[in-house]
Parts: sequence; structure tokens; C-alpha cells
Amino acid sequence: MKPVLTLITIAGMAMAAMPAHGEIINIATPSTSLVLDATQGQPLKIMHYGDRMTDADIDALPSAGSINLNAYPVYGLNPQGEAALSVTHTDGNRTTDLAVKGVTRTKDDGADITTVTMADTYYPLEVKVNYRTYPGDEVIETWVDITNNEKGKVTLNRFMSGYLPVRYGDVWMSSLYGTWADEANLTEEPLPHGVRMIKNKDGLRNTHTAHPEVMLSLDGKPRENNGRVIGAALCYPGNYKLFVDTDDSNFHHLFAGINEENSEYHLRKGETFSTPELALTYSREGLGGVSRNFHRWGRAHRLHAGDKERKVLLNSWEGVYFDINEEVMAGMMEDIASMGGELFVMDDGWFGDKYPRDVDNSSLGDWVVDTNKLPNGINGLLETARKNGVKFGIWIEPEMTNTVSELYEKHPEYIIKAPNREVVKGRGGTQLVLDMANPKVQDIVFQIVDTLMTKYPAIDYIKWDSNAPIMEHGSQYLTADEQSHLYIDYHKGLAKTLDRIRAAHPDVTIQACASGGGRANWGILPWFDEFWTSDNNDALQRVFMQWGTSYFYPAIAMGSHISASPNHQTFRRIPTKFRADVAMSGRLGLEMQPRDMNDEDKAICRQAIKDYKAIRPIVQFGDLYRLLSPYDRKGVASLMYVTPEKDDAVFYWWKIETFMGQQLPRVPMAGLDPDKTYRVTELNRIDNQPLPYEGKTFTGRYLMSNGLEMPLTYKVDYHKNTDYASRVLRLTAVD
Ligand code: DGJ
Repeated sequence: MKPVLTLITIAGMAMAAMPAHGEIINIATPSTSLVLDATQGQPLKIMHYGDRMTDADIDALPSAGSINLNAYPVYGLNPQGEAALSVTHTDGNRTTDLAVKGVTRTKDDGADITTVTMADTYYPLEVKVNYRTYPGDEVIETWVDITNNEKGKVTLNRFMSGYLPVRYGDVWMSSLYGTWADEANLTEEPLPHGVRMIKNKDGLRNTHTAHPEVMLSLDGKPRENNGRVIGAALCYPGNYKLFVDTDDSNFHHLFAGINEENSEYHLRKGETFSTPELALTYSREGLGGVSRNFHRWGRAHRLHAGDKERKVLLNSWEGVYFDINEEVMAGMMEDIASMGGELFVMDDGWFGDKYPRDVDNSSLGDWVVDTNKLPNGINGLLETARKNGVKFGIWIEPEMTNTVSELYEKHPEYIIKAPNREVVKGRGGTQLVLDMANPKVQDIVFQIVDTLMTKYPAIDYIKWDSNAPIMEHGSQYLTADEQSHLYIDYHKGLAKTLDRIRAAHPDVTIQACASGGGRANWGILPWFDEFWTSDNNDALQRVFMQWGTSYFYPAIAMGSHISASPNHQTFRRIPTKFRADVAMSGRLGLEMQPRDMNDEDKAICRQAIKDYKAIRPIVQFGDLYRLLSPYDRKGVASLMYVTPEKDDAVFYWWKIETFMGQQLPRVPMAGLDPDKTYRVTELNRIDNQPLPYEGKTFTGRYLMSNGLEMPLTYKVDYHKNTDYASRVLRLTAVD
């Protein structure tokens, strides 16, 4: 049946008058709806994304001036605007014209998938637009499968994961920017006319300079706990492009997907290209509501082992850097065990036979123990860990090699390199990237992990690092015609390898690290349990970086370590108490040489670890409420985590500036049950006397409208006071 769709335009907005819809689809979550019109023979249309709609409202939607734009705009006919898909057909035709053929609904591992199949009206090119929801969850994942049934090759010039029109207005975009050691800074700005784009072309580390996630606040300047906000997260670890085009229509047009620049993709006859997922969510509870939606969805469906508590660890990197030896490792294991830690991770520097890894210019790829440093090998270390009652973890950088390595000597054909060019080298003047598009390289990378885990099944944790971008556009494996596939096939190869690794070794904890926070990414987390947030462990700067990261990622995934003072990156001196209070708002760890700590600092860390273990389920599985942003420059930053049952919570307060005469705001709490009563206990206490409200009870209502007064300094011996102050309070519901 051909529908009658008479389009009239009111104030630039396309409205459907007297529509005759074929199939209206309501992709619903508990409180949101994405309403689509999948009329046979027409392009798929989007009518609404936002609050959940009743059937009656959906029926009346067209008369209200619903969106009525193509849900997956394609290039060619009326090519003036931006498109999500641009194809060159076998005969050179650059236009595409899609019409709906059918809708299917399937179940996959508890998730509901709606697939709208469209086909070109002339060419045998099929485009399936998919939507996945999980019962009880507020996120809708969308992605596209493009199948070439034409006689020959077609070229995909652009192939976005998704498109979303947002009604024109005072819409603000929140996103993250940064650089190495300064990741995940928050920026908030009204959407400008024209294009606002976030992109990445590193090849590997796609979350240093920007992140493939945005929030769009629909009601003006972003607010933390109210206002309508849309969140969009592209789940992809490679080059990406997210942009909002605000044109002369009544819409801001959001597009997100793989960055197609230099990556046009040739699809052979019969081949299908699947884009990565774009995760969309919407909340009326402001930015915080969107963050909580992403966190819940991420822990339940996207993060590897998102329901498993993470251990408190000591990582050797900033403690000893490359100076690894058996005695030092044993000392570190003993020290972390004595402080109550549960895991020791030996970082870079333990490997290399012909070329020992003493600095950063050799040996990647030669994953054999340096027996000069570790005469009893990994087994010796595992035995020491066992004796100390801690688990053992190890660092690898499997996607890389160096010109100075046995691997490169044997297999120079395995690296990424363009013909007729000198190889471009990275870290240490020798680092090279292995070509993950090559199945032989995929095997090698699988074997690195498989051999370690098979030889040493007691290894509990792997830190998987990646310290280089793709440094030249050239694959020695791909054909001349496929060179533009490199950036994409690298990640296809990596995904295949990670699938194999996880099938064989589901239980080992794996951290995604890439020169610090280069892989804080929903695209990689299905195989990884956490990410390294930044190589900058300065607690003050971490307050900002972790604030930004928390927009899209839950605390359970965010490696957050207490490091030495003065800090190794900023050289700032921050007292141990403050460093501990910041680190214990993420996945707590230590990153220093405990032998350099005095007894008092060790005692603070011991206490922090003990307290953290008690609140770990609240931090790692609770709901985040950001209370006062460090970006507001009010002298204080504050946030809290609350259990889903609202019977337990942890409140963090960090004073981030010190001036005499400062009047700091008192911070109302959030997320508690107004009718429940909570007992207050201070954690990580260093004062000689308790806070006045220690052990006292308050209703959630009082705490959420008034908060509690935080002293600006500590009650400690005079010479022990510092220019930093912080507090961590536990709020436990009492009957
Ligand atoms: C970069 C990582 O971010 C650091 O934590 C450390 O593992 C070094 N690589 C080791 O080379």
C-alpha cells in the first residue's frame, strides 16, 4: 500500500498533513520512545525521540508537527544537506534512494532488536537499520548493515552509525577534549549555526584529544539534575566523527560514525558492512540522568564483567618505571599486601631476551621474561604473590613492536608501513605498530595472551597498553585496492582477536590503556574490565579529568591511583589524605614505591583501602550524583554515589582552592530517599577529633536540601595542616 504523504511546510518545519502511515514503530525503553514511520516503499522516517509516548499521542503525533525526516539520510537526490550514507554504485552512480521493504523484531540474548530493512529503489543494495534495547534499560543502540548485491564492487564513501534530528532551540552540547596527561576535560557550549564537529584520526588512541560521546541539553545551559538531555555515545575504538549540523531548517542534525576520511570502503558483491553501534539515551533528570543511564547500561551490557567487583591494586610503573627486579617486585607485593591491597601489577620492563627492555626503545613483541631481572621467571613472582596473599597482574603491549626486537627482525612484513617510504617510528625512536588487518598478526596477538595465560593460569590481571598512533597509511597485507580499509580493518582484526582471547580466557581482568587515557571507550570495553584514565595521577587535576570521564563512564571502569608527592607529572605536592580521597572515587589503586612512604602515609593508605573495601559496592555499582562541579570554580567539587535501593551512599567533598576569607558553598546532597534516615560516618579520618555530626542521623530530605557543613581545614597538630582539605562521608540508612 502506498501511503499518501502530503508535505506542507510551516515556518521551515516539514509537517505531514493527512498522513497514511504503514507501520509506526515505537522503540521504547521504560521512560523514552523513539518513534519511526516504516511505511513500505518510503524511506524510514523518524517522528520523535524523547519522553515515552502513549499510543494515543503517537496517533496524534503528525498533527503536532512531528519531525518526519529520513531516519538514515542518504546522499545523492537533493544532495544539499548532510547524509549518513554515501555510496558509489558499480556503474559510478553516486545517488542512493532507499525505501522500506519490511520490519522484523528479534530477541538476542535478552535484548530486543528491531530491524528495518530498506533497499535502493533501483540498485540491489540493502540497508538494514537496527535498534537494540534491553528490558529495563534506558539506552537504545542503533547501527546499520549495508549489503552489496550489485553485480560488482560498490564503494562506501560515508557510512555513519546513526543520525538524530533535534528540534532547533537553545541546545547546548557537552563534550570532552584534552590531550595526553590532560584527558577528558569538559566543554559546554551552545550549538552554533553551521557545523560543530568532534573527530579523531589517531588510528588507535581515540580518547586523548576528544571523546566520541556528547550530551545535548535541550533546555538551555546544561543542568546537572534537571532539564531534558540527550546522550549519544559512539561505541567504536577507531577513527570517528560526530558532528551537529545546524542548518536553515528547524533542526540540529546529529551524525555519528566511523570517520570516513581516507577510509572509503569497497564492498565486494555479496559483502555486508556493519557499522559500530551508536548508543542513545534521553533523560529529564539533566546531565546526571544521562550519565546514570549510560553507567547502568554500560555495567549491564557493555563493560566486560560489569557485575564483578574490581580489586584494589598496586601498579609498579611510577614506583620503579623500568627498574624491575625480583627483589623490588617482592617488596612491592609485600607492601601492598600489608596495606590491605588485593593485587599487584608488574608494569613495563620485565621482558626481552636478546634485547632486554631497559628503556622504551626496544623489545616489544619479544614477550619472554628477562631472566637477568627475574631469574625465577613469572612463576617465581606468582609464588611470591601467593605467599603474600595477593593476586598478580602483568603489563603487555601486544599490538606493537620495535625496530630493535626479535619479532621485527623475523617479520618486518608484520608492521604497518607504506611502500617506498621510510618507516615512521614512534616512542623511543623505534616503536612500530603491528598490522592487525593481517590474520597472521591477529594470531600472534592472540598467542601473546593465550601463552601467558596457559603457562601461568594464576595471572589475574593484564594491563594491555598501546602507545602509538597509526603512523603511516599503509598496510603490507591489504591489496592496493584495499589500502583505504586500513583504519577499519585494523579494528576488525583487533575485535576478532579480542573475541578469541575472551572465549579462551573469560575471567582474567584486562585493563585498556593507551598512553594513559587513550582507550576510555565503549567500543573496546566489551572485552576489557576497565581503562586507565590518564598518565597524570595528580589528584587535583584528576578531580577535573574524572569529572569529565564520569559523564559517560562508571566509576568501576575508571582506574584511579594514589601516586607519589611531588607528583611525577605536575610536580605538585598534595597530601596523602587528599590523594586517597580522590582515588577512592574511582577504581582505587596505588601507583608509587611504598618503600618511599613514611609510616603515617602508609597508615592513611591502609585506612583508605579498608574504607574503600567497605564502600566498594556503592562506588562500583551505585548511581552517581554530581553535586558541585570543579568547572564552576566555586572552590569545591563534590559528588556522591548512592545504591539503587537508596540505603547506602558515599559523599565526596574536595576543596580545590585555598584562600583566606573564602566562603565556600554548602553542598546539598542528591539521590537519597527523602523519607529515609541516614547515619553519617566519616571515612579516611585524619582529625584528632570527630566531625560534630559523626554518628548522628539525618533524613534524606534534610541532607538533600541543606547538606552538611564541611570544615575548611583539619583538626590535626598545627604543623600537619595543609592547603588541601577533603572529606569522604558514608551515609547508611537506619531503620
Ligand atoms: C603508558 C601507560 O599509560 C603507563 O601507565 C605505563 O604503563 C607506560 N605506558 C609503560 O610503558
